[in-house]
Amino acid sequence: MKNIALIGFMGSGKTTLAGLLADKLHYNLCEVDNDIIGISGYSSINEIFDKQGEDHFRGLEKIAIADALRKSNQVISCGGGVVNAPKTMELLKKNAIVVFLQADFKTITQRLKDTTSRPLFRDMEKAMTLYAERLPLYEKYGDIKIETDEKSPEMIAESIIKKLANHGG
Ligand code: S3P
Repeated sequence: MKNIALIGFMGSGKTTLAGLLADKLHYNLCEVDNDIIGISGYSSINEIFDKQGEDHFRGLEKIAIADALRKSNQVISCGGGVVNAPKTMELLKKNAIVVFLQADFKTITQRLKDTTSRPLFRDMEKAMTLYAERLPLYEKYGDIKIETDEKSPEMIAESIIKKLANHGG
């Protein structure tokens, strides 16, 4: 079966949903950020950004995703910024059904109010600008779009599974 890749802004629920979907569909779970840390030689995403910068991080992200896509039956939870890397998105579009988890910025700030592990969410103004810039990219790349505001992970997982069935996935 084709891989499933989850995209969406930080705090859109990709990690939680990927876990649920992998359980329900009996797929393998791939958390790209963890794989990136694994190949980086550092111990956190913050450390990679602070010591090597975002471009370096995006390079590792492409390697981690290309590696994940060599296998099938994977639910791949991508980092929120993958849509800014056209070559990586090309790989994903070819080898996975791309599911966009949509959430309003207000929902996202609520979900991430205690986060310390996201270097691009340290400055709220910048995060808001990034959200506005990325929204059209998520819309463009998503084969399937799911609204997540005010829905439980369980409800979201069920609507993804339904839409995947309609999509032929
Ligand atoms: C990023 C999102 C993060 C992580 C890194 C960069 C981004 O993943 O990949 O901090 O550019 O939006 P999550 O979306 O899982 O938080």
